[in-house]
Amino acid sequence: MNTRDTLYVKDGNLYIGEFMATELAKRFGTPLYVMDARYIAEVCDAFVAAVSRGGEGAVAFANKAFATLATARLAAAHGLWFDVVSGGELCLMQRAGADMKKVLFHGNNKTPKEIDEGLAAGIGFFVVDSLNELELLDEKAKKLGIRQDVLVRVNPGVSAHTYEAVVTAAPYSKFGFDVHTDAEEVIADIASRKGLVFRGLHVHIGSQIYDHSSYDQAIDVTVAFMKKLAGKGIVTDILDMGGGYGIYYTDEDPKFTPKRYAYTVESVARRVREKAAENGLKQPFVIVEPGRSIVGEAGVTLYTVGAIKDFPGVRKYVAVDGGMFDNPRYALYESKYSAVIANKADKPADEKVTIAGKCCESGDLIGKDIPLQHAETGDILAVFSTGAYNYSMASNYNLNAIPPVVMVDGDRADYIVKPQTYDDLLRNNTVPEWMN
Ligand code: LLP
Repeated sequence: MNTRDTLYVKDGNLYIGEFMATELAKRFGTPLYVMDARYIAEVCDAFVAAVSRGGEGAVAFANKAFATLATARLAAAHGLWFDVVSGGELCLMQRAGADMKKVLFHGNNKTPKEIDEGLAAGIGFFVVDSLNELELLDEKAKKLGIRQDVLVRVNPGVSAHTYEAVVTAAPYSKFGFDVHTDAEEVIADIASRKGLVFRGLHVHIGSQIYDHSSYDQAIDVTVAFMKKLAGKGIVTDILDMGGGYGIYYTDEDPKFTPKRYAYTVESVARRVREKAAENGLKQPFVIVEPGRSIVGEAGVTLYTVGAIKDFPGVRKYVAVDGGMFDNPRYALYESKYSAVIANKADKPADEKVTIAGKCCESGDLIGKDIPLQHAETGDILAVFSTGAYNYSMASNYNLNAIPPVVMVDGDRADYIVKPQTYDDLLRNNTVPEWMN
């Protein structure tokens, strides 16, 4: 547990903001996602300050980590930009009242409909990722009589030290144009088009990365590429270095504070500026695009313990009322988590348990070998660092309802996503007339 002033243990109980976790579970039910607004705000402020130290820049929140109206409003109020990767996320931005000029549209295969929607919304930047997109975007922009600002996603061919499913910039990736092969030609092509304006480059090397050297390498390769472009008279106004900063999940990971995370942002921005200066280039506007590090540790999932099955000497299952439908990350990546029994949080975590979900699959686990206090049926289990890629990747598998989300801000707690009802689950079901 990475404690802080809004996540702590007092008199044997886990607290989030000013609320006892068990109190939240009682008031809102379980399973329940709880998000800590103060933590999100603190990270946003620290990141914005860090990227602007020594030059111009912006922090774009990667909606894919946790996309809700409330977090969009919160992040915008703290000066953040946003990245979107679908028509749905774009619509969220519009409904949240975000400044569309501060929105970047990513995606390796944006559909024609999404391109239309982005153009109609007056989005700030399309991050072009394929030749198909380039053609389509140019054609559509010309029809509308506009010139659309674009960044080009480039692949510097650098391997980030993290798990394979989230590496995005190794050679032969599905993302971007390779700086060593096709990127230059594509950018020269954009520069000659009437519907598009080349504004800069985008790089995202992967996710859950602690190792700085991966960022440094990516920056060095990308700035060298900017120099090559400059030699052809093409100016890179903006360099977006993506996100990917690793967070605390278990005691195997560093326990960082928002300030320490911000140091990573600062050092990415600083290296870009140093390398640009060394190469005699115009200082680019630096964008970073974190998702996980803004919302990940802000989230705690609360469950009620149900069935317990002990196989002495093998493993002990503690089953909860959630599972892979609210957190598919173990099933997908064998991700690790830490947890406590919220009502016994000061007791020794002297058992190692497998936390099982309630879905009809053996692989439906929240995690294996998790140190935990002695669990009993009816206890409230809190799993930490579930703010990123849990709610956003949740599903209705087995027709389980996606848990509601409650935002805690000091002594206030309210839904930001309401509970799903059975009607919600069946809302789009229909039986064709010919079946009657
Ligand atoms: N920018 C781009 C273009 C991205 O593809 C991503 C993440 C980010 C920014 C934000 O990365 P972050 O700061 O959140 O690491 N579902 C996986 C993570 C997939 C990340 C995809 N792209 C997980 O649960 O670990």
